[in-house]
Amino acid sequence: MPTFSFSSIPDNRVPIKNKEEVVDGNWKQHVRNYLDYFHIKGIHAKSFAKVVDINSYRTECNPHSVLQWAYTKDPAHGFEPHELPRRFQDLNHLEKRVYALWDFIPPNFASNHYPWGYSINVWMPIKNNPIQTRLYRYHYVTDMEKYEKKDEIWKDNEVNLEDIDAMREALRGAKSRFARRGPFSPDKEQAAHWFHRWIYKMMFEKY
Ligand SMILES: [Fe+2]
Repeated sequence: MPTFSFSSIPDNRVPIKNKEEVVDGNWKQHVRNYLDYFHIKGIHAKSFAKVVDINSYRTECNPHSVLQWAYTKDPAHGFEPHELPRRFQDLNHLEKRVYALWDFIPPNFASNHYPWGYSINVWMPIKNNPIQTRLYRYHYVTDMEKYEKKDEIWKDNEVNLEDIDAMREALRGAKSRFARRGPFSPDKEQAAHWFHRWIYKMMFEKY
């Protein structure tokens, strides 16, 4: 089960720039990128990777969803313990705070839960256009004061642009430095593997 219920997402959606745009890359490529642990240190080296305690990064693959989460380097920028279930506390380091919860529900929906609220991503296929995706982004705010700092602390705009740029580069071909190759890492690539399996099951296994 995802960490959130749809009823926990507040009604106050705020207008954001480019809430709907056509971006380069197939929708599955965008999803795979979202689920890829390695892309944090690569694509987001100057944004997320600087503020997240990368060693605490966790991937939890559930039957029908995937959760990725991590502690923040600066506890002032994380969730208060009472805002999340107790299992997100590190009992040996009670000062640690969760930076964000990234929930993915297949095939193409992500809820990114930050201390300021929810950032929703949907990657929609475009008919007869396999090399582009219609990206929808919505913000639902629980704390307006924190939301004012969504770019400064939680890197919202920067991270979004980095992902879009990387997918554009990846589309340019195998020479791209973003086109990762090499051995599969069972520890670190659980979520991407989970997504491949999910697609396989939906296409080839009978229910
Ligand atoms: Fe990303």
